[in-house]
Amino acid sequence: MDEKLKQIKEELTKKFEQVKNMQELNDLKVAYQGKKGIITELAAGIKDVAAEHKKEFGMQMNELKNEFNEKFETAKAKFEEQRILAKLKEDTIDVSLPSDKIQMGSKHPFNRIIEEVEDLFVSMGYDVVDGPELEDDEHCFRLLNYYVGHPARDAQDTFYIDEEYLLRTQTSSAQSRIMQANKEKSPIRVICPGKTYRRDDDATHSHQFGQVEGLVIDKDISLADLKGTLEIFAKRLLGDDTKVRFRPSYFPFTTPSCEVDVSCFKCGGKGCSLCKGTGWIELLGAGMVHPNVLRMGGYDPDKFTGFAFGTGLDRLAMFRYNIPDIRLIYGNDIRFLKQFDEAE
Ligand code: DAH
Repeated sequence: MDEKLKQIKEELTKKFEQVKNMQELNDLKVAYQGKKGIITELAAGIKDVAAEHKKEFGMQMNELKNEFNEKFETAKAKFEEQRILAKLKEDTIDVSLPSDKIQMGSKHPFNRIIEEVEDLFVSMGYDVVDGPELEDDEHCFRLLNYYVGHPARDAQDTFYIDEEYLLRTQTSSAQSRIMQANKEKSPIRVICPGKTYRRDDDATHSHQFGQVEGLVIDKDISLADLKGTLEIFAKRLLGDDTKVRFRPSYFPFTTPSCEVDVSCFKCGGKGCSLCKGTGWIELLGAGMVHPNVLRMGGYDPDKFTGFAFGTGLDRLAMFRYNIPDIRLIYGNDIRFLKQFDEAE
């Protein structure tokens, strides 16, 4: 028996040394300790051992099983460690590899011009307000002194939602809302930039475009204040040598009304294709707030005066950033937009 045990032990030592992986280790366990395993069968022989040797035999068997288990656990731990190391190696990140290039976006010229205009007017003490794009006839027309039947109310120009509601055709609609919200408080100094809509849709007009409205109401506001303000606006935005010209015009909500031109920044006023040879480019509409508009907004025209102006943001962006075609602003061509990187 001793011989047999010794032989098994030697054999096991060798086999454990030869085992190469977990699979082989498990096979070894089955071969020795499985149902029909070598150790299992040997241990079953206890029934044939003489009674006085049973204890001794039992101890020897336990020792053999323990030795096997110890060797098994040691080998198992070794394979487990190898497995973890191999996995770690496989998952290693090569930090020297080049990364994917992250594409940074750029500010859209439309947002950029709004920010520039806002910064300029805020620096002059104005507030920036928002008005609804879905507007009612009341604020877009009636409170701005458009009589019933005025051509601007025509359904050919305006997107009507129903009898009462429409998409605002001009940011001037904010004027009456601002007056109503302030209830004779003064001064009012606000600008309202935003989207506007008209039923124009051809190569030079888009049915959605941007405008910014300005409104100032106080005691003793005169046309000179309007002229000074708009001159600063034009020069700051388009350059200090920009000349400004005021032409009489008509808008229902201002009197007197004017249109404001700036000297052509492309030719400096000599005349070119951009200014159609005139040397001037139309920039905005403006005027002194009509007494009817003040009254309907809750301001006594005997006590208060004011001025208003409004201009197209798309045109302004074209002039400011030298954009040759208005369609580029809404085309979302990434090559065009990329030119407006924040880097500046
Ligand atoms: N709302 C006018 C338009 O869309 C522009 C305008 C003209 C605004 C004169 C004004 C103004 O505030 O006083 O053409």
